[in-house]
Amino acid sequence: MTRFIVTENYEKMSEKAALIILQQINKKDNSLLGLATGSTPVGTYENLISWNQNGLIDFSAVKTVSLDEYMGVEETNEQSYRWFMNENFFNQINIKIENTHIPKGMAEDIDAECKEYERRIQLLGGIDLQLLGIGENGHIGFNEPTSFFEKHTHAVALKESTRKANSRFFGSVKSVPTHAITMGIGVIMSSKRIVLVVNGEHKAEALYKSFFENVDPMFQASILQYHQDVTVVADHDAMKVIYDKKVAFNDLISL
Ligand code: F6R
Repeated sequence: MTRFIVTENYEKMSEKAALIILQQINKKDNSLLGLATGSTPVGTYENLISWNQNGLIDFSAVKTVSLDEYMGVEETNEQSYRWFMNENFFNQINIKIENTHIPKGMAEDIDAECKEYERRIQLLGGIDLQLLGIGENGHIGFNEPTSFFEKHTHAVALKESTRKANSRFFGSVKSVPTHAITMGIGVIMSSKRIVLVVNGEHKAEALYKSFFENVDPMFQASILQYHQDVTVVADHDAMKVIYDKKVAFNDLISL
């Protein structure tokens, strides 16, 4: 089932998504959180950081697994997702850094790293809550449009559109890595709960296609229609196409 929570703007979207994570940690203090990188979840992390610093949320028993990492980028490089997560979240909360897991994009044997990463997720008891963003081309994690849904964690060649979208972090498209490791769709779908954060009109088409058109591997996020517990937290701008098409909602909560 998909539940929509629609908010006025990015700030409210971020606060709402952070509240859902707060509730998850209050319910289970050693939750395994699946985390996304990118611009969208930064505000969510900012709320969690501020609540943690004010003693309202405790990350000391929390464990995390990230969706993806660029290949060929050192962890210490500012462009790595490890660096991004440390900087924008982990270094500012009371999480134990050894409880934060991110695929190793510099691993010598990438296939072995993918298998080991997935085994670790299983050993940690599976993902309780997976936070997702979405690419304009419908990717979740770095599961790019293709003819099938890849089950397992794997290496992927990034689409030109993805490299272009992410070039804002690199200065030029040329500098964006060509490959990444990503959790597979099977891993994402085995999360007990999924929270998808989406903001901005540039994501409105993607949001519409994900939930109101047929499930199609050329638009990977559409698989989320088959998950039993998805909460979409979207701002009004991201809802534009859904509003324009006047689709009927069974379960729309508007805040
Ligand atoms: C990042 C990730 C990607 C992003 C997506 C949206 O870990 O898995 O799927 O969530 O590319 O990125 P932003 O939020 O930067 O628009």
